[in-house]
Amino acid sequence: MPITPQELIANLGDLPPLPQVAAQVLRLAADPDASMDDLQKVISTDQALTAQILKISNSAMFGMVREVTTLTQAIMTLGFSTIKSVVIASSAKNLYSRGAAGLQERLLWEHALTAAMAGRAFGRCLRFPRAEEVFISGLMHDIGKSVMALKFPERYVSLVKTVYNERCDGLQLELDTFGFDHAMVGEALLHSWNLASSLEDAVRWHHDPAHAPKENQPLAALVALGNQIALDQGAGIGKPETLSAATAQAMEVLGVTPESLEPHRETVLEMLEMDKSIIKGL
Ligand SMILES: [Fe+2]
Ligand SMILES: [Fe+2]
Repeated sequence: MPITPQELIANLGDLPPLPQVAAQVLRLAADPDASMDDLQKVISTDQALTAQILKISNSAMFGMVREVTTLTQAIMTLGFSTIKSVVIASSAKNLYSRGAAGLQERLLWEHALTAAMAGRAFGRCLRFPRAEEVFISGLMHDIGKSVMALKFPERYVSLVKTVYNERCDGLQLELDTFGFDHAMVGEALLHSWNLASSLEDAVRWHHDPAHAPKENQPLAALVALGNQIALDQGAGIGKPETLSAATAQAMEVLGVTPESLEPHRETVLEMLEMDKSIIKGL
């Protein structure tokens, strides 16, 4: 019997809150009257976030003559939508490392970031109009793992060790052990953070994109493809083969075949290669 969302919440108890600055930035990003100035004021209250944004602006501008040294410049360079991604990225990164007791925090983060970049690149190749949403969903897709590690430190860490040593299917083991998996927990977290329901769906169905609500199947499918590339590239814990069912569903949802996807896969890998400096720098 699958667990109901109410039972899941009862099992998990309080979920980690979205950092305040991130919540404010998201509110501004959704407000058509908000200005760059408002954004700058909110972000500058958080020094770590400001530093991270400057770092990212400079990595994106690699090879440019002028270095970005102020937040205002960075906001002008990156634009509202990218800043929003960066802020969510930084919230996600903090949470991935907090819930990392023995989880190899760096690996979890690199996995999420690689999946996000690859998913977005596939989105661009396939002319998906909301590529930035794929990026954000990709960043968050395994956040449920961190929440589970925070909530059940011993049981979850021993589960991760089993997955790592025996290279078995972690999702099934989660279901067998807890009655729910990290995709369901991720959905519950994003719901409590009040993020868009499209992101919730993408996270909930990243291992099963054909079962997402119709309108968000392509989004979930692109995250699934990004997830596959990340494991193929050795970024993350688990055998790439454990994702083959999800990847097959993703291709069906997107109306592509392994053959028609192959040239895009090549492009995505090239893009990832170029973005590696960003991944290492974050
Ligand atoms: Fe996952
Ligand atoms: Fe993943």
